[in-house]
Amino acid sequence: MAGMLGSEERARRQDVGVRDSDDGAIRCSALPCLEFAQLEAKLVLPPAIEGPLTRYVALHELRRRRWLSDAGLGGVLILAGPPGVGKTMTAGAVAQRMGKDFAREAGGQAVHVSLNLPALVSDMLGETAKRVAAAFRSIAVSAAQTLTVVTIDEMESLFFDRARLPPNDPTDLIRAVNELLKQLDRLRTCPNLLCIGTTNLLGRIDRALVDRADLVLHFPCPDVPTGTAILAQAARAAERLDIHVCHEEVRAAAERLCLRNKTISGRVLARLPLIAHLETGATDLRARDLVATARRMLDGGNKYDNV
Ligand SMILES: Nc1ncnc2c1ncn2[C@@H]1O[C@H](COP(=O)(O)OP(=O)(O)O)[C@@H](O)[C@H]1O
Ligand SMILES: [Mg+2]
Repeated sequence: MAGMLGSEERARRQDVGVRDSDDGAIRCSALPCLEFAQLEAKLVLPPAIEGPLTRYVALHELRRRRWLSDAGLGGVLILAGPPGVGKTMTAGAVAQRMGKDFAREAGGQAVHVSLNLPALVSDMLGETAKRVAAAFRSIAVSAAQTLTVVTIDEMESLFFDRARLPPNDPTDLIRAVNELLKQLDRLRTCPNLLCIGTTNLLGRIDRALVDRADLVLHFPCPDVPTGTAILAQAARAAERLDIHVCHEEVRAAAERLCLRNKTISGRVLARLPLIAHLETGATDLRARDLVATARRMLDGGNKYDNV
């Protein structure tokens, strides 16, 4: 991604106060950023997710504007659910939205910190906890200056349920999780900070962390309206490559896939027209082509992962 950034974006990234860490655990950028530019427009959420999410963001912004260190919010949001349903997209879209609002209202530049948990893990005793503390020191430095949105993908890779860890775990993750909780508690009172964590495995995450979240949103697999919107978007993109799927076929396919097979992900739907074209060679795709391709993708894994 870094190679694709324009010079203006690179200049802004250097200017955000915190720097990318050498171990790859922290990546920083100014908000709004190019990377997230299209997310809001592309994201399709069912009302049961969109409503609480929008209200949460509004409350968080109000808390920051009024500078309330204790208003019952701790600045931790968890997005949970199966793979490929838009959790990572949502985290980016929220960061972007907040960055835009901040720029408009406060005239300042917000910061996005992407925390890569696997990069914090070390098998040197005590080192993981030290790295966690160092990462959060950088985050605190940023939050002392400006609105800072931290995204933590696949939280279960470090926020393990401590009860499941062996006592002689060489990576000493128990201490690392304790350190993470301590850091989150320290930053709870900072109205300038929002941490958005995503996970496919909520049950594996330490209860103490889940309890610290202001809101845990459970993302479902797409229902018919959500699935239709995601597939329609994919059809519009495919149209630019001369692959056609008319809206009736999109709707018929989504109705069959999202009603009958409740486990189809947005990720599969978003790639369906292109993969159906690759499989069949058809440039005018029908619902039955899309459904057959989706079934094959779900049954045997996807042979066209790079599409
Ligand atoms: N709700 C959604 N709205 C729009 N696109 C989606 C949605 N869910 C999944 N997708 C598609 O699937 C891809 C993967 O989504 P992502 O946010 O990484 O899923 P997750 O983090 O839940 O595994 C996205 O890039 C997008 O193309
Ligand atoms: Mg994800």
